[in-house]
Amino acid sequence: MSKTLPLGLINRYRDRLPVGPDTPAVTLGEGGTPLIPLRRLGQPCQVYVKFEGLNPTGSFKDRGMTMAVTRAAELGAKAVICASTGNTSAAAAAYAAQAGMQAFVLIPEGKIARGKLAQAVMHGAKILQIRGNFDDGMSLVKSVAEQMPITLVNSVNPYRLQGQKTAAFEIIESLGRAPDVHCLPVGNAGNITAHWIGYSEAAGRPTEATSFRDERISDSLPPMSESCPTMVGYQASGSAPFMRGGPVTHPDTVATAIRIGNPQSWDAAHVVQRESGGWFDELTDEQILATQARLAREEGVFCEPASAASLAGALRDIEAGRIAAGSTVVCTLTGHGLKDPDIAAEHVAGASQTIDATLAAVEQALGASLDA
Ligand code: F0G
Repeated sequence: MSKTLPLGLINRYRDRLPVGPDTPAVTLGEGGTPLIPLRRLGQPCQVYVKFEGLNPTGSFKDRGMTMAVTRAAELGAKAVICASTGNTSAAAAAYAAQAGMQAFVLIPEGKIARGKLAQAVMHGAKILQIRGNFDDGMSLVKSVAEQMPITLVNSVNPYRLQGQKTAAFEIIESLGRAPDVHCLPVGNAGNITAHWIGYSEAAGRPTEATSFRDERISDSLPPMSESCPTMVGYQASGSAPFMRGGPVTHPDTVATAIRIGNPQSWDAAHVVQRESGGWFDELTDEQILATQARLAREEGVFCEPASAASLAGALRDIEAGRIAAGSTVVCTLTGHGLKDPDIAAEHVAGASQTIDATLAAVEQALGASLDA
């Protein structure tokens, strides 16, 4: 058997990542997600969605986790730990399983989507549901990682952002250049920071958003793009510390993935905003859910609620002219809609009808729909 699987983003971007030529990648084939042009939504701009829900565990976290767990394995770690609103725990559990490590995950009791919990369970993570929120969990896992031989794999681990920056490389490769505007949902602000690091490196520009340096990243690579996009981050109104100017003590939103009041990448996110000329804004839960449903119905793409915040904000800012007409806009859809089946289940009553199992009944029902 070969030493590494010939797949995944580490094998694809080895020169641009903090790994050696022979570092074995812990990979499940993450990355290479589609950049889908929207046909109906987003006029008069061209909006693309980068569908990160098509990663192995269904979210962008896999990009960070392949790097963080590869690094942990390189250092001989036996266990990893994270706090999570769900997706990080699913990815940590899966990549730890692949690496033969134990994963420990702290999640806010009753506040993570069912699909995500199912993943952590099936991958054999030790799950601690805490009577507290993500921010409480985060401070706990930081303390644990200081005192015990367990590697912290939240995005405060710089290898996470190194993996996640590859999404920017892929977008540049797909478009042949960087987009004009890139929109993301923001929780801890790790992902928006990672994208900015990626775009900056691709354009050969220094950025203060990271102090991470590793001599194994080649500094003699040709630029991949001439420009960098304007970075825009959207939060849910009930969990919008960037809009309030400081931590939110009791964050709340239906988009549980971004139910975060005390972002870990607070300073870096402000650097991103300044260097890229971007901004933060907020959406209500109703706006987020309405856009999630529109995207699914009108474009055929099913993302989780938090992910829809990026598109909801972009559509609003395009309409308001804040994003200039004619711009090329990329919205990251961070996670798959199947992660959170309960959201869809709430709509099922109105979407289905029960009939007799006869041809006559089927024909009658279809006829009524065609007439409507
Ligand atoms: N979208 C989804 C689906 C997420 O799961 C997260 C974060 C974000 C957006 C925000 O990304 O934190 O880098 O700004 N989820 C983390 C978790 C917190 O535990 O799964 P960010």
